[in-house]
Amino acid sequence: MLRFYRFIFCATLLSIGSADDAKLNNKKFPKNFLFGASTSAFQIEGAWNLDGKTESTCDKTFNKQPSIVIDGSDATVACDSYHKYKEDVAILRELGVDHYRFSLAWTRILPTGYANEINEAGVKYYKNLIRELKINQIQPIVTLYHYDLPQSLQDKGGFSNPLFPEWFANYSRVCFELFGDDVSYWLTINEPYPICSMGSLSGPFVEGIDTYICALRYLTAHAAIWHVYDTEFRSKQKGRVAMVLNGEWAEPASNTTDDITAAETRMQFMWGIFAHPLYYGDWPEIMKTRIAMRSKLEGFNQSRLPEMTQEEINYIKGTNDFFALNSYTTVLVKAIQEPEISSPNSTKDIGVFAYQRDDWLSSSASWLKFVPWGMRKLLKWIKDEYYNPNIIITENGWADSTDQLDDKVRESYIKEYLSNIRDAMDEDEVNVMAYSVWSLMDNFEWVSGYTAKFGITYVDFNSPNRTRTRKNSSYYYEKVCKTHCLVEKCED
Ligand SMILES: *[C@@H]1O[C@H](CO)[C@@H](O)[C@H](O)[C@H]1NC(C)=O
Ligand SMILES: *[C@@H]1O[C@H](CO)[C@@H](O)[C@H](O)[C@H]1NC(C)=O
Ligand SMILES: *[C@@H]1O[C@H](CO)[C@@H](O)[C@H](O)[C@H]1NC(C)=O
Ligand SMILES: *[C@@H]1O[C@H](CO)[C@@H](O)[C@H](O)[C@H]1NC(C)=O
Ligand SMILES: *[C@@H]1O[C@H](CO)[C@@H](O)[C@H](O)[C@H]1NC(C)=O
Ligand SMILES: *[C@@H]1O[C@H](CO)[C@@H](O)[C@H](O)[C@H]1NC(C)=O
Repeated sequence: MLRFYRFIFCATLLSIGSADDAKLNNKKFPKNFLFGASTSAFQIEGAWNLDGKTESTCDKTFNKQPSIVIDGSDATVACDSYHKYKEDVAILRELGVDHYRFSLAWTRILPTGYANEINEAGVKYYKNLIRELKINQIQPIVTLYHYDLPQSLQDKGGFSNPLFPEWFANYSRVCFELFGDDVSYWLTINEPYPICSMGSLSGPFVEGIDTYICALRYLTAHAAIWHVYDTEFRSKQKGRVAMVLNGEWAEPASNTTDDITAAETRMQFMWGIFAHPLYYGDWPEIMKTRIAMRSKLEGFNQSRLPEMTQEEINYIKGTNDFFALNSYTTVLVKAIQEPEISSPNSTKDIGVFAYQRDDWLSSSASWLKFVPWGMRKLLKWIKDEYYNPNIIITENGWADSTDQLDDKVRESYIKEYLSNIRDAMDEDEVNVMAYSVWSLMDNFEWVSGYTAKFGITYVDFNSPNRTRTRKNSSYYYEKVCKTHCLVEKCED
């Protein structure tokens, strides 16, 4: 999870009560449905400079200038999963999950950023982790890139360097060679949307005039990875490859045509920016028109949205083997007057007003509100918009800020979101294959440091042992993983 909104301590844990079982979907999830838990390398591993690992953009941003983190913390040790991966897998085993979604740290495997030098210690860490998972019958779902670009490559211009897609292709080839025999689902790039539109930090994050150039470069890098897999590995490894897209469901604030159109516009800007090129080739039409219109008024002689060549369209189209989605919440959307022309701004490009209701239960992260019905609508929209893809929900979860193990709200959140997911499968015939809760454990939440806790497992960051303790929600989740049923007793 990545959000750079200012964190607000919020004690409004209104009583949502324990979800009324009668309102929950009482059909079992299919036998082959995969339940799992997610993490990312930078947020859990620690060992940021050990055993040959070199600096990534995340190390530079968060480990060298901790002042940008609200609790003054950093991720140099984090959950210390580099040393404690066996404990992590032991918890996964207790939970009875089918899969574990984690990410590889590029600079642990390739210290120069390039494929010229492979760091054996880094490779061994991931080999050990995967072996431990296999012994426990848990399949790895592996993210290649979760924000931690080698700093050496960032210093060469990052995404603005024309070789950017090839760096990804070469790094990924090494990963497919090393780990691909054990991996059926690969995730290329996690959440490109915030990378390209929330540049409040240094490192890989950008905004403004470069947002759409960034988006095209990340799409091209994703496609480059997909083509490497498709031509060199797919026939023997038989896995699947997808980009991880994120966003909210945008609900029209009213039933007026203007608000309905405004909500759809936001969906196209938020999801369509990546999904439309992946499934149809090229940007959504509404992005082309709006960005061209605003660019002109801003004085540019061409649109800030780069025109894709036919070659680019063909290279990117059809490169998502499944739909990997991160989603946590919902926004309401209203039509507004055209925002004033100023410096380039990707929010103004959308040109709508998005907000959340005050009476929606808020997590400790102010953007994350409890709106389970939005998940069902989102899934249905994705089904209708992108040719009924197979969907893996790669992230969904709840943040609090307490040390309490009795995390009732998180339990209700998981319960009610899963119930809406089951409804979508059942009543809207959406092909959801898997669900992965964010997160297996409390971890380093970017600018929120250790104050926003997303874990179903508590981690004691004051102890050198980083002791893990399961929260109550994890016992509920264990029951779901083991029975595939959300309520006391499912109808068969
Ligand atoms: C990618 O790898 C190939 C083969 O090792 C190498 O020739 C090429 O220079 C690499 N590309 C980049 C951009 O590093
Ligand atoms: C819009 O119309 C639908 C169907 O009539 C209704 O269920 C829904 O509550 C309306 N939404 C709003 C925001 O008024
Ligand atoms: C548009 O402006 C840029 C500089 O802002 C310039 O390099 C480019 O040649 C111009 N293109 C056209 C078609 O005038
Ligand atoms: C872009 O516009 C939005 C909405 O008006 C505003 O909240 C945001 O601060 C702007 N971003 C920048 C970087 O100016
Ligand atoms: C949840 O936590 C509370 C307090 O820690 C404990 O008393 C209770 O038994 C737990 N419930 C379950 C279902 O584990
Ligand atoms: C850390 O773990 C070691 C070994 O299990 C134990 O001896 C020690 O007491 C623990 N320390 C803390 C602070 O929990």
